[in-house]
Amino acid sequence: MWSEEKIVEYLRNNLRYKRFEHSLSVRDTAVKMAEFYKADMDKARLAGLVHDCAKDKSSEELMSLAAKGGYHLNEVVRSAPKLLHGCVGAIIARDVMGIDDEEVLDAVRYHTTGRKGMSTLDKIIYIADYVEPLRIFPGVDKMREQVYVDLDETLIYAFDSTIKYIIEKGQAIHPDSIEGRNYVILESRR
Ligand SMILES: [Fe+2]
Ligand SMILES: [Fe+2]
Repeated sequence: MWSEEKIVEYLRNNLRYKRFEHSLSVRDTAVKMAEFYKADMDKARLAGLVHDCAKDKSSEELMSLAAKGGYHLNEVVRSAPKLLHGCVGAIIARDVMGIDDEEVLDAVRYHTTGRKGMSTLDKIIYIADYVEPLRIFPGVDKMREQVYVDLDETLIYAFDSTIKYIIEKGQAIHPDSIEGRNYVILESRR
């Protein structure tokens, strides 16, 4: 497996500068959250760092890499190929960087959509991606306060804002996002 220095170098060379900085920021936020929620800090650090490693690839590249990796391209991802950057990120993390930890790979794979049965690590990366200090959007302060109060409520809030945003743009919602939101609502609020 690549050293953190080598991964950072890869990100520096393959991402726009703002995205590179965001990646380091998600890494640091994920570590703090993992410490607070007693999750594995090393896994959180690694998943946070690499989560967007495929984000600046073109739609064509994402589709072709995902297809080569055996991923089924449903209609939703065909209409919005950028959704594939999590899944392609996991492929790069495994095949290029030599990361073989399935929990880390899943957290990278599902950080864009979420999924049914999200692990604590999945939730941490999904939320850290939202609340890292460089992010600015309406409601971010409320989310940052909530992060260390209730992980699941923060996740539901994040799902809701993502899904509302997708609806406003008139786009299709990935089934994993709906299943992820249903899962966390039904699991945490019963
Ligand atoms: Fe992302
Ligand atoms: Fe991100």
